[in-house]
Amino acid sequence: MILKKEHTIVDTRIDRHDDLKGGLLRNILSMTQLEYANSMMASNQGGYHSKYQSPKDFYCREFQDLSDEIFEKCKPTLEYLKQRDDGLPFGFDIEMWANVNYQDDFNAIHNHTRTRNGNIDREVLISGIYYLKVPENSGRIVFPSELKFMKPFFKRNMDEVYKPKEGQLLLFYPHRWHAVEPNLSDEQRISIAFNLVATHQQ
Ligand SMILES: [Fe+2]
Repeated sequence: MILKKEHTIVDTRIDRHDDLKGGLLRNILSMTQLEYANSMMASNQGGYHSKYQSPKDFYCREFQDLSDEIFEKCKPTLEYLKQRDDGLPFGFDIEMWANVNYQDDFNAIHNHTRTRNGNIDREVLISGIYYLKVPENSGRIVFPSELKFMKPFFKRNMDEVYKPKEGQLLLFYPHRWHAVEPNLSDEQRISIAFNLVATHQQ
């Protein structure tokens, strides 16, 4: 499955979900215990948001395995982007973060077009979310329609809404705005998000 100009969200799966979920969940839950008070504030309203970091910095082998599979899943799109844009750099890097939403927590609308690490501002090529734990009624993800101006001509709501499933991987172009509904369950909703970024090196 390839992200294309006219097809800006891909709904797929992490094939190794069953192998990876145990280690990833253990690592994320221990991070919430160690540094909940230092949780980042980004789009999250409440909940825990880890630092943005390279897979190796999570000190958990499963994050590296997960990023390897994500790179594989993104390869066809990167090839497609290279064909469309000769200026596309050859180097790619990935930053990941963990999200834990507790009861009533949600994510306000945002997009991922650029990312900042210290003073370095980088262009994001592909973003995505992988779902590890999604209790019933823990919040859907909503991508508002890019064709809002067409709204008067259509009766149906044209927003793209996904009810996440464990193991699901959504890939999307970083300009796509999105929000997460409040978690109405009393269990944690846990996901790992990432940005694939251009590094401007061969
Ligand atoms: Fe996001």
